[in-house]
Amino acid sequence: MCGIVAYIGSKNCIPLLISGLQRLEYRGYDSSGIACIHKSTISDYKAVGKVKELNSLIEKSSIDESQVGIAHTRWATHGLPSEANAHPHLSTNRKFAVVHNGIIENYKALKSNLEAKGCKFQSETDSEVIAHLIEQLYDGDLVAAVASAVKMLVGAYGLAVIASDEPDKIVAVRNGSPIVIGISENESIIASDLSAIVSHTKQVIFLNDNDIAIVTASNVEIRNQENVPISREIDTVDWDFSAAEKSGYEHFMLKEIFEQPEAVGNAIRGRLDHVNNSALLSGLNMDAQDLVTIKRIIIAACGTSLNAGLIGEYYLEDLAGLVTEVEQAAEFRYRNPLVDAETLCLIISQSGETADSLAALREAKLKGSQVAAICNVVGSTISRESGRGIYLHAGPEIGVASTKAFTCQVSVLLMMALKFARARRYTYTDAAELINEIEKIPEYIDAVLKQSKKIEKIAKRWAHATNWFFIGRGYQYPVALEAALKLKEISYHHAEGYHAAELKHGPIALLDENFPVVALAADIDGKDKTIGNIEECLARKAPVIICATQGDKSLASYTKDLIEIPASSKYIVPITATVAMQLLAYYVAKERGEDIDQPRNLAKSVTVE
Ligand code: AGP
Ligand code: GLU
Repeated sequence: MCGIVAYIGSKNCIPLLISGLQRLEYRGYDSSGIACIHKSTISDYKAVGKVKELNSLIEKSSIDESQVGIAHTRWATHGLPSEANAHPHLSTNRKFAVVHNGIIENYKALKSNLEAKGCKFQSETDSEVIAHLIEQLYDGDLVAAVASAVKMLVGAYGLAVIASDEPDKIVAVRNGSPIVIGISENESIIASDLSAIVSHTKQVIFLNDNDIAIVTASNVEIRNQENVPISREIDTVDWDFSAAEKSGYEHFMLKEIFEQPEAVGNAIRGRLDHVNNSALLSGLNMDAQDLVTIKRIIIAACGTSLNAGLIGEYYLEDLAGLVTEVEQAAEFRYRNPLVDAETLCLIISQSGETADSLAALREAKLKGSQVAAICNVVGSTISRESGRGIYLHAGPEIGVASTKAFTCQVSVLLMMALKFARARRYTYTDAAELINEIEKIPEYIDAVLKQSKKIEKIAKRWAHATNWFFIGRGYQYPVALEAALKLKEISYHHAEGYHAAELKHGPIALLDENFPVVALAADIDGKDKTIGNIEECLARKAPVIICATQGDKSLASYTKDLIEIPASSKYIVPITATVAMQLLAYYVAKERGEDIDQPRNLAKSVTVE
């Protein structure tokens, strides 16, 4: 989620807030805004597009200076990118202003209650409810009003709040979205990450979840939600700006690999229906009748999104018994596809701007197919033109090689398959087990990330190899394809993903002792057959790296290069195995010193044919 900067101190906050937002631009955003206290009232400025648009708006305004203000770069999750939806959001009486990072799951219920009390909403966002809640709960004590308001919120939030009647403080709250406070002589700076702080001070306090911070120019007091004071360490950071941009990771790609537990947590948040053991996915706008009317699904996408779609095919057929095909979007758009009103064409696109995927969407609509999209960028062309779909909520993905978007796409596809399955023969009891597994995906991913040092060692051992095969069966076959793509695009090594059974039909001719084969052999359907393929490779002296289930000793005799993923249901293996493969590809490319975040010849969004 996006960026927060807030300032209280002896200096003019406006230029400092603008430069702070500029320090957060790397995170990707669609709009920005500032609110500051000036002559005992709150002045606010918001603009779509880059921070420089906001800055020129402020320069044309009458405001000259202020000593307390909050600012935000928005990555839209609820409500299109627009001036009205940009933060800060103000209360009806304009005495309170809030900036928010995260997602408020229960905002619709809160919003209708607040509207019934006469609150006037200016935006479509979830965040605006916070400003109105604080106004309703305010009784002369901002901290108490904020503490009461956040108790009513369900979801993830990092907040900064100002009140025109209490200009001597900013209240900051952390619950699921990071907040850090920089301490300096006669000033305090609050931000969602260090990159907006390190140029001012190295003395920082990282808030923990449920912390409420009362921040003045000369002091930071922290309390829990029961108003009990708590103490937090003051850390000294030695990061410079460029390191801080990546939260201390060497590359955005590595940061985004390690962000996956949080990103997938956001993709799942508020979307599981524990009453009916189904999935909510309100963005699909499909009731039970609509769900059972669909007789066939065609998934059209490109690259990594196409590989995610292949896993979706297995989910939808396996769980919902729905005939599902996956097509390269360019192929779909030109082959005069056979679709009808009982077909759902599902477009998967992280950017929501890929030319071939957009063209496939338009072709499907032209031929009368039902359509939907899975995108990460709110308000993107594909998400708008599909008219219905599911946003990933993965946050901006900066690295060109897609990582967290992929695992979020697969998690969303699993929930979608659950929804279609529960409208068919999938039982309440079976679904309960699956829901439990889905909720554990972030911790499963965490378990893989803990293997990163071991995976790095394996990557270093084979970083010299210039040709690789990745092989898998069933749910692990699309993982082989995605793993090969990851390695190709950031290490420039030649790599191919194959169905494990396919090797003996030709590719095995290439194998020798310099040609490693990575076998995806987690302990689910197909593992035993894959062991046979591993033996075929070893018989040709090809070194084998195996991705296996933690504790599965049956594979240890085949290789010392064993990557272990946690035991889980087969539906989760494509996610955990892919995270392992992302790390393998990353460390090979790092060993080779390649430009991992901006690989040669590649673009983050391919908006041309
Ligand atoms: C992903 O690692 C690649 N950079 C690329 O294949 C990408 O997945 C493809 O261009 C599709 O992009 P989209 O998801 O934004 O449509
Ligand atoms: N959910 C909020 C919105 O859509 C905040 C998004 C963000 O973190 O930038 O405005």
